[in-house]
Amino acid sequence: MINPRSTCLALALTLFHGVTGQSLSASDVDTVTSRLQESALLSWELGTRAQALLELNAPDFSVFTTKLPPATTVPSNTTSAIAPVFSIAKNAVSGRAAANKNAAGPQPLMGGDGSAADPASIGVAVLIANWTGQGAADGQDYAGAARDQINFLYSSVPRTMDGAISHRTNEIQLWSDFVYMVPPFLAMYGVVTSNSTHIAEAYKQIKLYRNYLLDTNSKNLWKHIVMGSGNNVPNDEGHWSTGNGWAAAGMLRVLATMKNSQYSSSFSNEQKDLASWVKEIHTAMFATLDSTNIFTNYADKPVNGDPKSFYDAASTTLIASTVYRFALVWNDHTHLPNAEKVRKALYASGTSPTLSSVAPKAENPAPSSSNSPSSGVRSSSTRSSSNLPSSTSTSPSPSSTTAPLADLAHFTNDGWLTPVVNPHSFGQEGQKSAEGQAFVLELQASYKEWVAGGSVGANAGNRPSVAWALLTGCAMLGSLMAFA
Ligand SMILES: *[C@@H]1O[C@H](CO)[C@@H](O)[C@H](O)[C@H]1NC(C)=O
Ligand SMILES: *[C@@H]1O[C@H](CO)[C@@H](O)[C@H](O)[C@H]1NC(C)=O
Ligand SMILES: *[C@@H]1O[C@H](CO)[C@@H](O)[C@H](O)[C@H]1NC(C)=O
Repeated sequence: MINPRSTCLALALTLFHGVTGQSLSASDVDTVTSRLQESALLSWELGTRAQALLELNAPDFSVFTTKLPPATTVPSNTTSAIAPVFSIAKNAVSGRAAANKNAAGPQPLMGGDGSAADPASIGVAVLIANWTGQGAADGQDYAGAARDQINFLYSSVPRTMDGAISHRTNEIQLWSDFVYMVPPFLAMYGVVTSNSTHIAEAYKQIKLYRNYLLDTNSKNLWKHIVMGSGNNVPNDEGHWSTGNGWAAAGMLRVLATMKNSQYSSSFSNEQKDLASWVKEIHTAMFATLDSTNIFTNYADKPVNGDPKSFYDAASTTLIASTVYRFALVWNDHTHLPNAEKVRKALYASGTSPTLSSVAPKAENPAPSSSNSPSSGVRSSSTRSSSNLPSSTSTSPSPSSTTAPLADLAHFTNDGWLTPVVNPHSFGQEGQKSAEGQAFVLELQASYKEWVAGGSVGANAGNRPSVAWALLTGCAMLGSLMAFA
């Protein structure tokens, strides 16, 4: 016999389930994490890896999920999760004397990089290592290294007339990437040294960068690179999708650092600005999305309009992660239906129309022994082996006989996000992106937290409201039956 009330409930719940859709399994996440560990070698890749690991595995030390400053000791349930983050900090701090030719005083956390900003991305890991007393155990001077890094930014790097710190060491050139690499470090530095001047500086840098990079002629997408002389890395006035993602994600980290810190009430206007600037990027980016729900490498260059254009799952993942994060931090759900569409496209099974011949799905490339990015324009450095991270993974290696991600259109069998821009040459499609792997973990972290909080805001779309109507209907049906 059919019970109309339970049939009604089952239908409504099925509709709710359809809203959340597919996600990555724990073993998928382990596989993605292993690929990230193998591929993150350059300064910003290590900084981004550290941030992703904090967000996903050590929430007690992520600015998004803890009161600041964080605990001064690492709880036992976080020791192994945070170990790779401390390892990144230790490798940088112990390697900097050799990398910087025994320089004293202001210097970057990793040397030999033409970028003034990228090495600072490791700064948050170094600050947490200092704050939790890692130096007492391993003899490294984390506080001194962090101080030298911030003084390098303040005193050794060229600035615009109005004070924007250059992304490059040898000339003034502003890159959207900077917003993720530097301001979160400045803000956290202010928190752990009880000096809000650095938090104000984080905000000021973002505001200046936005002034230079926001393109009001292109519906508020951010340009990628401006102000360079042309003698070094050429400027790139295109609206690089990853750059828009770096900017949104960096602003969110600073917003969360302010909000969760002891200085929250002194920076309430700044938090409002940052929130509106994050949303501005979301609105600009989602206006460019085509029916594949994957962004192109330059958001406003459709694949059909430009032979050099291609789809990029890395920036797509980063942008999606910032929408869930924004909902959690700021309680604004405007773009959640867009993020849900994008997430479902990223985790869809089968094949995808976005895949190109550069990284065919069937291919199962052996982990490359040489990840040297030295041919790329992003960094002109080659790295000595002393700067390579030691192997610290706590995740199991994937078994060679299983391919847990094999069914997913946007992952290769061994766990690389695809298709992706070459992270070392931003105009070209690549095959393996360390930052792309980190973005997957960041999406996983923010999506999981959003689901745990009740998936608030998914119903800005249509299916959930149908489900709600049905549930209400079910409830009414239930009361009618009770009277019968
Ligand atoms: C670790 O334990 C503390 C205290 O019991 C708890 O509040 C925290 O959520 C735990 N963290 C993780 C990552 O499980
Ligand atoms: C290092 O940590 C100590 C607390 O142990 C803190 O007082 C100090 O401000 C920190 N220094 C830096 C540069 O983060
Ligand atoms: C806070 O930081 C600023 C910028 O580096 C510095 O000028 C100022 O002296 C610091 N304030 C304190 C109390 O240390």
